[in-house]
Amino acid sequence: MERKDFFKTCGFACVSGSIFLSMLESCGSTKIISGTIEKSGLVIPASSFLEKENKYRKYIVVQNEKLQYPICLYRLNENEYSALLMRCTHQGAELQVFGDKLQCPAHGSEFSNHGIVQNGPASVNLRSFPVTVKQDQINISLK
Ligand code: FES
Repeated sequence: MERKDFFKTCGFACVSGSIFLSMLESCGSTKIISGTIEKSGLVIPASSFLEKENKYRKYIVVQNEKLQYPICLYRLNENEYSALLMRCTHQGAELQVFGDKLQCPAHGSEFSNHGIVQNGPASVNLRSFPVTVKQDQINISLK
């Protein structure tokens, strides 16, 4: 094999490997948990994000039978979370979560992990809820 061919082959292998790794990361199984509704809102244990020792999930999907749509809760850092209603603002389809994005299976709208429209046809950002963390509990205010 010539030197030029060798570098071409290695480059292709590196690009393929990094694409494969990013696909694996985004295909990680989504954790769905049931939150309890209390006076203060929807409550889940903060440990729900813990995967392994010091390794945290990026997001979890929280549901409750009283909610028409689930809420996607992103862990942005130790004290910062983003809680988004998984209802598309275009025509109300339930969104799917893929890594840092929420996508609509109906017509393809995309939203960031802050609920900002990234691609239409939706033109309105997702409904978001204030999140507080107290004593190992995460509280999503539903007001
Ligand atoms: S309902 Fe989501 S893009 Fe149309």
